[in-house]
Amino acid sequence: MAELLLMGMTHYPLLATTDAEMASLLRTMMKDPAIPAGLADPVNWPLEMRNEWGADEARTSAATHREALLAGFAASRAALEEFNPDVLLVWGDDQYENFREDIIPPYALLAYDDLDAHPWEKFRWPNVWGEPKDQAHHVKGRPDIARWLAEKLLDDGVDVAYAYKPLHHQGIAHAFLNTQLFLDYHRVGFPWPMVCMPINCYGRRVISAKGFFTPFGTTVELDPPSPSPRRLMDVGGAVARHLKQSPWRVAVIASSSWSHAFLTDKTWRLVPDIASDRAHYDALASGNYAYWESTTTAAIEDAGQQELLNWFALVGAARELGLGAPVQHNFIETHCFNSNKVFARWAVAA
Ligand SMILES: [Fe+2]
Repeated sequence: MAELLLMGMTHYPLLATTDAEMASLLRTMMKDPAIPAGLADPVNWPLEMRNEWGADEARTSAATHREALLAGFAASRAALEEFNPDVLLVWGDDQYENFREDIIPPYALLAYDDLDAHPWEKFRWPNVWGEPKDQAHHVKGRPDIARWLAEKLLDDGVDVAYAYKPLHHQGIAHAFLNTQLFLDYHRVGFPWPMVCMPINCYGRRVISAKGFFTPFGTTVELDPPSPSPRRLMDVGGAVARHLKQSPWRVAVIASSSWSHAFLTDKTWRLVPDIASDRAHYDALASGNYAYWESTTTAAIEDAGQQELLNWFALVGAARELGLGAPVQHNFIETHCFNSNKVFARWAVAA
């Protein structure tokens, strides 16, 4: 039987830019004219947020945030090297990349061959590595494993979609590509192939807001919802159950930040829902998966936690394997950098 290593991490796009740009999403949000008077003015923010913003619009604290994230990626990379997987199975959001008007699957398995991705072609900020606009990054695939897993899931009643090539977005979507780029932050090479399993995390906002946001006051017709958190736990459990019976060593990864400020209307999209993230984190740290099972789609949307749905699949995998709480976990809280981030790793399931 296979051994599995379960891990959670972030693919925060603004880690790929410079410290000067890392708070640029907040700077954009602050300009929405519909925000009630004073709320976007830093003098009225809570102390922790004012401290993070500082005197230079969070440029100094961006270095601290980067340091914390890089420590998480270094630890994740070390665990991968020690585990030496044959393949990475990664859950990430498709943010209006391949899931578009012509088809929105709940989730899919991408049986892609090796390909070259070009992360900076449409990246609107300078990249922190100073790589040229047309820089290619090679991404290794294992289409045979993706097809094998699709067959197992379909036989098991999990009606997964699959694809052999990108529909719209050339390369692989940001959630997956950033995972590789950040796990190889120091550009020493990335030896592992990836099987990507995108999830329709954005649900009601996937087409209506193109997986991002529209200014307050814009009337949009919301789309049908994402798959529910509970269903994604079951799907994650099924994936783990079959991979455990496979001939491969697999690192099973959820890639996403937690609550996103730009999705949290109740905070005027200025800050993420820290309280809800903390509650989920405390439950994760204590192996209280019943708390995760009880989370509703409405609660996810209220907390701007659409991308946390990737972690529901991961927690469902941990539950299925009887792993209990993760052996390593840390919570990186922020007010100014759009989203809280969590790193977690479970004991190897042998
Ligand atoms: Fe994302």
